[in-house]
Amino acid sequence: MKTEVVKIREDDVQTPEGRRLLERAGEVIKAGGLVAFPTETVYGLGGNAFDPAASARIYAAKGRPSDNPLIVHIADLDDLTGVASEVPDEAYALAERFWPGPLTIIMKKKPELPAETTGGLDTVAVRFPSHRTAQGLIKAGGGFIAAPSANLSGRPSPTAAEHCVEDLDGRVDMIIDGGRVGIGVESSIIDISGGTPDLLRPGYVTASMLARVLGKKVEKCFGVEKADDRPRAPGMKYRHYAPRGEMVMVRGDSADVIGYINAEASGASGKGIRTAVIASGKTAGFYTCADRVYAAGDSPEEIAGNLFGILRQLDADSMERIFTEAFDGGGELSEAVMNRLIKACGNNIVEV
Ligand code: TXA
Ligand code: MG
Repeated sequence: MKTEVVKIREDDVQTPEGRRLLERAGEVIKAGGLVAFPTETVYGLGGNAFDPAASARIYAAKGRPSDNPLIVHIADLDDLTGVASEVPDEAYALAERFWPGPLTIIMKKKPELPAETTGGLDTVAVRFPSHRTAQGLIKAGGGFIAAPSANLSGRPSPTAAEHCVEDLDGRVDMIIDGGRVGIGVESSIIDISGGTPDLLRPGYVTASMLARVLGKKVEKCFGVEKADDRPRAPGMKYRHYAPRGEMVMVRGDSADVIGYINAEASGASGKGIRTAVIASGKTAGFYTCADRVYAAGDSPEEIAGNLFGILRQLDADSMERIFTEAFDGGGELSEAVMNRLIKACGNNIVEV
C-alpha cells in the first residue's frame, strides 16, 4: 500500500486548502481506510469506530493484540451518547472542565459500537482532543474515530509525523503531518464505569486535578503491578516504549547518580559497547564518559515533550547500554513521565 503524507498544521485547518485536504482524509476514513493524525498528546492512528473491519486493520497495521481496546475520539460533546450507553453526571463534570483536552473517560459502551473497537469489553474509552487538525479530521470522517497511538506495538508513541512514517509507511493510507505535538505523553485515562473514579494511566491531567472536579478521591491504579494483578487498562500489560539497548534507571542524589553512571559508562564504553545517558538539561554536561548524552530538558513539560523522541533516537543511534536519570520530584506530570520511563527500563532501577 502506498502511504500518502499530507501537511496540515493547526493554522491551516480553516484555509480552503486545509479544508480540502481534511475532506479527503475524511473520505479515506469513511471508506474504511486508516489515517494517522496529530493530537495535542501524541499522534493517533485513526479508523471509523463503527466499522469493525477498520478496527481490525488498525490492529494489523500496528501489530497490536486485538484484546487491547481502542480509544474513540469525538469532536462534539453531544456525540458522547453515540458511543456510551450511560453517561454519568461525573462524565459531564469532567468534560466541562477538561474537554476538549488530554483526558480519556471510560464509561459503559453502547451495544451498537462494535466489539472489535473495544477489544470485546463492555466499556468504551472516549476522548475529545483539543488539537484542531484532529477535530477537523474527526468531523470530516463521520464523527467517531477509533485511534490508538500511531506507533508499531511496543515502540514509543509518535510525537512527530516522521515517527509515524518510520513505523507505518506502507501500512496505512495516509499520514497527516501536523508538526511536533504539544504535550508528548498520552492522555490521562479515568475509569468511571464502576462507581469509583480510577486513574488507569497518568498524563497531563493529574489525579488531584480530577479529584478537585469530582469532589472525591481518585484512586491511582497504575504503576508497577504485582505479578498476579491484571492491569485495568489492557494496554498497560504489554512491553512498551523499550529501546533495543539495555536500559537502566539510576536513582539517588544527583552527585551520586552522576558518579555511578560515569563509572559504569566508562567501563562499558571501554569494552566497545555504545553507551548513552538520558539526563536533564542541567546535568547533561557532567556525563563525560558516555558515547552520547541526550538532554531531556529541565521542566516536567519539556521532559514529557522530548522523552519519546529520545527513546526513538536511541535506536536510530544503535545505542546498546543506556543509563537514565530519574525525572521524579517535579510534581504530578513527573509521575506520567516516570510511568513511561520505568516501562522503557523494564523496571530495571538502581538506587545509589
Ligand atoms: O493520548 C492518547 O490517548 C492517544 C491519542 C492518539 O489520543 N491514544 C492512545 O491510545 O494512547 P492507545 O491505544 O495507545 O492507549 C489506550 C490505552 C490502552 O492501554 C488501552 O488498553 C486502554 O487505553 N483502554 C482503551 N479502552 C479501554 C477500556 N474500555 N477499558 C480499559 N482500558 C482501556
Ligand atoms: Mg499506545
